[in-house]
Amino acid sequence: MKILVINGPNLNFLGIREKGIYGDKNYEDLCNLLEERSKELKFELDIVQSNIEGEIINHIQRAYNKKYDGIVINPGAYTHYSIAIYDALKSVNIPSVEVHLSNIHRREEFRHKSVTAAACVGQICGFGFLGYVMAFQALIDYLENSK
Ligand code: DQA
Repeated sequence: MKILVINGPNLNFLGIREKGIYGDKNYEDLCNLLEERSKELKFELDIVQSNIEGEIINHIQRAYNKKYDGIVINPGAYTHYSIAIYDALKSVNIPSVEVHLSNIHRREEFRHKSVTAAACVGQICGFGFLGYVMAFQALIDYLENSK
């Protein structure tokens, strides 16, 4: 099983940006945790990050070409307005889980709406780094049950 994690804009600034919201661990800490968990859960993992919408779309299309089984995506601020990322997720039809470190529903009103979640199997938010691990478990369970 091959899963691609796609992180959107500003997630590479974890540990620097708004620590009260996102914590003081950095992006490398996140990647290390996810690599560890992928070994325990026994699946192949690749992680990419981009601050550019079109590159995120290229990563989603690459996931199709490279036959990934699932996608875990944190589109960052693009969550709230990127119809292009929504369309890309719908185009490839790869089971995807949307993750947010923060609880977007407890924050500014413009964060309450996700346009991209409707292209995903589900959404997890508010659990920090753990949300990605929860997404792995949800995706593995979903993929095994849809065989
Ligand atoms: C975020 C929430 C978004 O609203 C914000 O723009 C981000 C991070 C999160 O992980 O909580 O960049 O996706």
